[in-house]
Order: sequence, then structure tokens, then C-alpha cells
Amino acid sequence: MTKRTAITFELNGRPVTVQVEPGRSLLHVLRQDLDLTGTKQACDGEGECGACTVLLEGEAVRSCLVPAERVAGRRVLTIEGLASPRGLHPLQQAFIDYGAVQCGFCTPGMILSAAALLEHEAHPARDQIVEALEGNLCRCTGYTTIIDAVEAAAALLRGETPYPGRPRDAGQDRTGAPLIGGSQVRVDAVDKVTGAARYTEDIKMAGLLHAALVRSPYPHARVTRLAAAPALHLPGVVRVLTAADIPGANSLEGYSRNEHLLTPAGETVRMVGDAIALVLAESPEAAQAGAAAVQVDYALLPHTYDAAEAMSEHGPRIYPDGNILNSHEIVYGDLEEALSHADLVLDTHYQTSFMEHSALERETALSYVESEGRVTVIAGHQEPHWARDWTAALLALPPDRVRVITPPIGGAFGGKQDPWPIMAAALAAYHAPQGRPVRLTYTRRESFDASPKRHPYDVDYRLGVQADGRLTGMRLRFIANTGAYDSDGYYIPQYGLVAGGGPYRWQAVDARAWSVYTNGPKAGQMRGFGTPQACFALECTLDEAAAALHLDPLEFRLQNAIDDESITFLGYPPAETIGYRQCLEAVRPHYQAALDRAAHRNQDPHSGPWRRGVGLAGMWYRFGKTEPITSEAHAELGLDGAITLLFAAPDYGQGTTTVMLQLAAEALGLPRDRLQWVNADTARTPDSGIQGASRSTYWVGGAVARAAQLLRHRIVATAAELLDHSPADLVLAAEEVLCPGGPAVSLAEVAAEMERIGQPRKVQGVFGPPLDAGHSGGPRPENLPFFVTGVHLVEVDVHTATGQVDVERVVAAHDVGRIINPQGVRGQIEGAVLMSIGASLLEEYLPGVSTGFSDYYLPTIRSMPRIEVIPVQVPSRWGPSGAKGLGEAATLPTTPALLNAIYHATGARLRQIPATPERVLAALRRAGSASGA
Ligand code: FES
Ligand code: FES
Repeated sequence: MTKRTAITFELNGRPVTVQVEPGRSLLHVLRQDLDLTGTKQACDGEGECGACTVLLEGEAVRSCLVPAERVAGRRVLTIEGLASPRGLHPLQQAFIDYGAVQCGFCTPGMILSAAALLEHEAHPARDQIVEALEGNLCRCTGYTTIIDAVEAAAALLRGETPYPGRPRDAGQDRTGAPLIGGSQVRVDAVDKVTGAARYTEDIKMAGLLHAALVRSPYPHARVTRLAAAPALHLPGVVRVLTAADIPGANSLEGYSRNEHLLTPAGETVRMVGDAIALVLAESPEAAQAGAAAVQVDYALLPHTYDAAEAMSEHGPRIYPDGNILNSHEIVYGDLEEALSHADLVLDTHYQTSFMEHSALERETALSYVESEGRVTVIAGHQEPHWARDWTAALLALPPDRVRVITPPIGGAFGGKQDPWPIMAAALAAYHAPQGRPVRLTYTRRESFDASPKRHPYDVDYRLGVQADGRLTGMRLRFIANTGAYDSDGYYIPQYGLVAGGGPYRWQAVDARAWSVYTNGPKAGQMRGFGTPQACFALECTLDEAAAALHLDPLEFRLQNAIDDESITFLGYPPAETIGYRQCLEAVRPHYQAALDRAAHRNQDPHSGPWRRGVGLAGMWYRFGKTEPITSEAHAELGLDGAITLLFAAPDYGQGTTTVMLQLAAEALGLPRDRLQWVNADTARTPDSGIQGASRSTYWVGGAVARAAQLLRHRIVATAAELLDHSPADLVLAAEEVLCPGGPAVSLAEVAAEMERIGQPRKVQGVFGPPLDAGHSGGPRPENLPFFVTGVHLVEVDVHTATGQVDVERVVAAHDVGRIINPQGVRGQIEGAVLMSIGASLLEEYLPGVSTGFSDYYLPTIRSMPRIEVIPVQVPSRWGPSGAKGLGEAATLPTTPALLNAIYHATGARLRQIPATPERVLAALRRAGSASGA
């Protein structure tokens, strides 16, 4: 038995005494013993993420690295102790006001690191803020709003009023923002800045068991023997589950062909991290020890991580019927004829890498069996109703015997569309003794091994261009590496091909793509879902063509840009309005100014080996889904007069709940705080469809707005009967329906009347735009033409001796339709830009090598350039209040713009990302030899 010692320390102003084991971290004591779950864990306790930051004697420390016994007799402050009885700390308030909170998982650590700085420095310069926060990772915000918030908090602490006159607050009335087009504060912001938000890992339940997994260390092998008994003899181990314990389908069919939940003995594992057994134990440590004790023998098989090798005759056989998952094509016109009219026929080849989502919250799910026997899972998921159905199939239960509830989610970026953790947790709870709840939380290492990645692409273009800049034909081929499993990689060729056409007019197209199995990690949805890779290759190829023909890159794109009536790359017109030309024009003055700055700087003899470059790139992004979809939402008038919205648009940080309430409040004509809501609980909310492809605002928002309009109509009609007035004379107010200057009836009375006459108090809103509007030749059902467009301009400095690339400035112009929440729009764009800078310069997941944040480099606050967001508002035809989609689109153009800027700076063309210093230097050498330098 490990000896425990009692320690006493001051925690959030009060003395506490706890028993601690030697070596136990302060983080674990805070979270597990003292239930202070505002302090988060995002890495494997390696000091890499900063999410666990607390103040020790006023200094910011990573609590995962501090042995608990070291705080005896000292002062510890966690996020729960920062606010005072008078209200929020200025940092907490400023984080809310400046939109510095998205998923909120990094927020407590960020705020406390900033608090330590402001303890010592009343007037922090931006450089000091960057230095203070560089150990705190944020995957959502792009950091700009965080720096703004810290500056504002410093001003508040100095007794100043920081808000008026700040450029980024222009048009944002923080106290009375309009419902549509105003930066309404997020509904979850206060909980996230105070540490009160309970993510899945934070929820406490009596009798909780912990799950750990036995995973394959090999990329390709047959499981020849599996022995669970050694684990069952260990203290604390309660059960070991294998494939034999799955009552239904041991499969993720419908999401991922061929993928087992647990690989049975005699079957094949196809990637490192494939799961074989699930151990349930009394503590996380006992579960891990149990997993290590399960014995598995393997017969190793040849493997490959390379898609071209997997496609070749000599590659390892990963699946008996071949390694190609599927292919897709878009072909029209006479390509040979179109290319024969071109003055330039250009061939290019581009390559991208696996990328890891790196949401700060690791994959986690908490499951239990409700008293009436329903298996319930609390977990972040982007398709809760689909996850419910897959889980029901696994457990051989009808779908209504399974419930998925979505709590606050610490980031997703597509990674939380994988139902695997939910299904595994449900299986564990199904078998747990005495109905005990079970939590499964991946380690960061497991998340790196077993969660889906972005698909690496190998892309070949052949473009025809006339000397005057007109595009003629395009031949496109790409191979997407889907790793060991489908995990929706089936749709990747289709998404990638569409993005690879871009918002341009073509005379002829021959585009084909393949999704190919390898033994890499399973690749799945990641922000942009197969489109950033293709956009990167196309927009760099266009830049190469412009350079070869001495065309201005902006004019070249403008000349070929589509508009509302154009025949698109798909062969038919777009269904929604297109603002691409407007985005190009919005960037034009910035482009010219940036070119002038670069020319001036490059002539400066003091710039030494540094070269300044300017690049731009455009994009179109199909929001929604490939195929026709409708969304459903409900609105209900309660007997107490309360109005509740019910929808399934999981909010993993992007602010969907806030936007839904803005749209509903506008439709009802009521203040937002008058509304209640339930978001994404399969037992209570309708299935509003998949929350991917940036569709929430347009589709689910459309359904929510319709439900709210219908409910308003029904309330007013019933009140009109009660008041004996025409509905046209009545006004729906906060608590009542009234005739101005005349009688009124409360909403509770209206509800009672509906009940009496049998009028349903819950209404259904359904949204699905017409599919044939604006089309002559389409659409093909699998290629719906709903697009948003944008243009990014990037300025870089390249060090020609070391290959270092510093991104100085990004201008991001996006047509988002009508803006519902400007702060939300800015936050999505800035976060996407920084994620793309990571993809461009840093992030490369290497199968068999990458293990966590210590060897997979994420952008930090130091990576952040100045980002200027230009919203271009071309209202949509059918979206709620004219909105379109956005979240993923902003991920596309930064990378090609950045690589085009490197070319502009140095003449070196990089055709592979990330553009690491080594690759930049190699490209410089190639460019030097090509020019004879
Ligand atoms: Fe402490 Fe990541 S959990 S730095
Ligand atoms: Fe920073 Fe999500 S808000 S990680």
C-alpha cells in the first residue's frame, strides 16, 4: 500500500488539507480529489499544452509537473478562485467581451497565465503578453482576440475604459448588440471563463469505473492469440472485454467500412492503435495496468504508409479485394481540344501530409445505463443521432434504447465525427457490474495513434491557359491516403475534386481521384474535409501559370472568376449567390500596398538574407453536404409560458448555440434571454443532421428560424382568439401577447388555452433549399452547388540562409452571406488562418513517429501574424437572414497564399507542405541551380 501524506495549503484563499501519494501531481489532486475541474489536461502531463496552468505563489505553473507535496504551506489559485464576490475578474470579462473564448478548453490556463503577467506588469506590451502565453496552446482562436483581451484587462485594472475606439470593436455594441449582425456574447462564455463548464472529463458520478484499451503496436499484423486472464488478477481490474462481448455488430459500418470496434483473435490489425480489448477498472491507473497485462500475440505482415506503393502491384495486400477504397470523376467537354487552344500547358505535382486535429480536449466518453435500461453516453460528437444508431447496432438494441447527450466540447475540427469512443464507452457501460458508469479517455498518445487524421494527397494538374489569361482545360488526378480505414474517406475524392476546380470557368475538365488504403492512421474528417489539399495544389498551380505568362495573379483570377450565373467546374451554375469577384476586389488595395512594401523592403540593404514576399489565393468551398439534405428543429411553448428551442447543432466552440438563439429570437421578436434551449440530446431533440461541412448556421439555423416563426404565428393566433382581436393587432412581448394600449394575455394563459383546445404547443421547423433553382444542366444529386468563396493575401519574410519563414500579415476576405455574429465570424476566420499556417509550415504527422505535442508542432501565440478580416456580405438566397456557411472555408486559401508568397520572396517554388526550413532551403537550392546562380 502506498504511503500517503497529509498536506495543507491555501487554495483559492482557504486552507485545505488533502492526503497525497508521493509523486501525485497537483493537477490530479485538484481535479480528482478536490473536484476543481476548471484546471484542464490536454497533453499527457508533459508540460506541452498549458491547459493545467494554476498560480503558485502568484506565478503561473503547469500543475501536471508540480508534485502535490511541493505546495504544502503555499498559496495556490485556480480559475475557480479568480472572480471575486463583486463579479468576474477583468481578465474573465475581457475574454468574454473580446470573443477570446471558443471551445473554452484552453481558457482557464490562458487567463491564469495572463493573470500572473498582470500581477507584475500593469502596462504589458504585446511582446510581453506573447512571452507570457507562449506555453499555452489554443487550437481555436488564432490568439489575436486573446492578446486583445489581455490588453483590455490590463487597461481595466489600471482603471481605464478600454473598449471605446478600439478598431476591432467597431460596430460591436457589447451591451446592446442587435440580434442579427451584432456580436452577441456567447451563451456559454461565463461558464467557460470561470471553470464552471463541465466537459465530459469533468463530470463526477458515483461508482465510476475507468476504461483503458489494449491497442496494436504494429501497423499490420494478424492477432494469433489473446489472453485476458493475467489482467483479471490485478488489483482494481473489474472486467476485460473483447470482441466476443459485443452483442451486436462489431463494426462501424455506415461510417467506416471494415473497421472493427475490437479486433478478434484470428483477424487483422491494420494500423498502430487498432483496439483489441477494453479493460474496466476502479482507477485510471489500474485500467492502464490491466491493459498492459493482457497478452496478445501477433504474426507480423508487410506494411506501407505510402498510397502509391499501396496502389502498386507490389504493395502489401491490406484488403483481400485490393487497396483502393473508391474513386470519383468529373468529366465534361473535350479536354484535348481545350488544351490545344492553350498557349501554355502546365504540369504540376503537389504533396501534402497527414495532419492531426489536436483539439485540446482529448477523445472522451462517459456512459451509464439509466434506471429504465437505456444506455446513455455523454460525449462530444458532431453527429449525435448517427452515433446513437451505430451504438444501438453494436449493442443489438433499438435506437431508442440508446441516448447520446452532447456536453460542452473542447474543440473538434472534424475529429469528433468518429463514433468509436462513444461506442466503446457504451459497450463498457453495458457490461459494467451493478450498472456502474464508465469513462473512457484517450491519452494524447492514443489520440495521436487512433483518432482520424487529415488525408495526405498526391496531386497532379495539367492546366491550359491562353496568353491573355483565359483558362481553357484542366486535367486533375489525385490520390488520397485514407490510412487503414475508410472513416468517411469514401467521400474524400468527391469533395477534393470539387474543391480542385475552384471558383473558375473551364472549357473542359477531366478530373479523377482515388481514396487508397495504407497502414497509416485512419484518415477522416478534418476542417475542410479533403478540400484544403486540393485548393493548395490548384491555387499554387494557378500562380505558376501566372508567373509563366507574366500575368498579374489577382487579375488572372478575376478574369476567370465565376459569378451567380456562370457555368461552374461542375458543369452547371451555382445554387447560391457567389461573392468571389467581390472578395478579389476587396483584397486589391491591400495587395497593391503589400507589393509596394515588399519591393521597398527587398531593396533595403539592411534586410540582409531576409526576403519579403506577397502571395494570394482564392477558394470555393461547398458547404452543406454533397447530397440533398433537410434539417429539422422544434420550438415549444411550455405550460409555464417559457419558450424552448430544441435542435441538434453540437457546439464544439464555434458558437452554434448562440447563433441559433439569435436567429430564433429574431424570428420570435423576443429578447434572446427569454429563450431556453436544448442542443443535441438524442432523447429530446430532433435529428438536425450532420454538424459538418459548415452547415449549422444555414441549415439548422434555417430550421430553427422556421420553427420559431411557426410558434410565433401559433401563439399570436391563439392569443387573438382569447383577446377577440385580429392577430395583426397583437404584439408578442417578453411574457405576454398584448394589443398596444389594450388587453393582454400571458404566455402561460396562451399555453393553457392551446392545451384545452388540443393545439400542439410544440412545432416543427424544417429547412431544405430548393435544388433546381438557378440550374440549367444540373445538379447531379451527389454534387450540390452550394458554395462560399474567399481570398487570402499573405505577406511573409523568408530567411534565405536558414529557410525560416515568418508570416507577417494575412488579409482574409470571405463572402459569408449576411453576418449573424461578427465576433463569431472573425473568430472562425482567425482560428482557421492559424491552423492553416500550422499546416503550411509546421504540422506533419509521421506514422510510426509522431506521438504527441512534443514531436508534432502546433502554432503557438508566437506563430500568429497580424490578421485582417474583411467580411464580404453577399446575402444568400435561402439561408436564414441571408447567412451562408463559413467555419471550414477559411482553412483553404491561407496555405497556397503563403507558399505563393514564399515564391514571390525568393523564386523558390515549394510543392510539398509543410514548408519546413529544410524544404525551403532545398527549394532555394533548386531555384538557384535552375537560374544558374
Ligand atoms: Fe500540463 Fe499539458 S497537462 S502542460
Ligand atoms: Fe482555445 Fe478552444 S478556445 S483551445
